Amino acid sequence: MYIDVTEVAVRFKQGNSEYQALDRVTLEIEKGEFICLLGPSGCGKSTLLNVMAGFIPPSEGTVKIAGTKVEHPDIQYQTIFQNYGLLPWRTVEKNVELGLETKHVKKEERKQIVKQYLAMVGLEGAQKKRPAQLSGGMQQRVAIARALAVESEVLFMDEPFGALDAITRMRLQDDIHRICKETKKTIIFVTHDIEEAVFLADRIVVMSANPGRIKEIVNLQKLKNRERTSDDFIVARDRIFSLLQMKKEDTVEYYL
Ligand SMILES: Nc1ncnc2c1ncn2[C@@H]1O[C@H](COP(=O)(O)OP(=O)(O)OP(=O)(O)O)[C@@H](O)[C@H]1O
Ligand SMILES: [Mg+2]
Repeated sequence: MYIDVTEVAVRFKQGNSEYQALDRVTLEIEKGEFICLLGPSGCGKSTLLNVMAGFIPPSEGTVKIAGTKVEHPDIQYQTIFQNYGLLPWRTVEKNVELGLETKHVKKEERKQIVKQYLAMVGLEGAQKKRPAQLSGGMQQRVAIARALAVESEVLFMDEPFGALDAITRMRLQDDIHRICKETKKTIIFVTHDIEEAVFLADRIVVMSANPGRIKEIVNLQKLKNRERTSDDFIVARDRIFSLLQMKKEDTVEYYL
């Protein structure tokens, strides 16, 4: 397996007690897979993503990517956070350039790549602006462009489209889906939007809270028609919705 999450538990200190945010989470992800982590607020989606990306050390268990234990963040594994993570003193283009500088890409090439990815997220005119001058949705698009520009193998995305209007959101869902297929990137994508997960995912990891656990893994690889208005799509969406309502103790893998 490309990404191996084995028996991961995370406990956070809360005053004198501890809160178990994740409990024995085990997950295997293949190279090039698009995985959505889906579940209610507080079920540990961001925590699991941050453990996989090396930002939070697990209290128990291990994460391996390509056979190497994850112990700190790595430029090969780009993360888009729930709160954008832009540097306020840098312009839009300088923010997008950040990872390319770390990778020592030459200046001329950097400019070209930045232009390409800003166009992809529809921000051609904003390159000289600073994050504070942009709307929340525009800031999120800068963060997406910055992560894509590095052309890393793995992309961790924490509700990247949460703040966007419905139309921009659909356009970026189309873009991310296409980019993933073209570049064979492995994407771990947190969302609480069932339709978004059905549109994007090869597999949906459905989580439950208190403590955060994997409740179901729904395999959508055989779902042929992802047109949002198609019968296939609507049936899949309704199935996931009812799975989310079900009480279940064991992790099972469903095929739609
Ligand atoms: N640094 C921390 N210290 C203490 N508790 C934390 C910390 N980070 C998260 N938690 C707790 O762990 C649980 C899981 O949080 P997490 O952010 O992973 O949830 P989430 O599924 O991403 O929720 P949302 O959909 O609201 O973003 C929550 O109950 C949260 O309060
Ligand atoms: Mg979260």
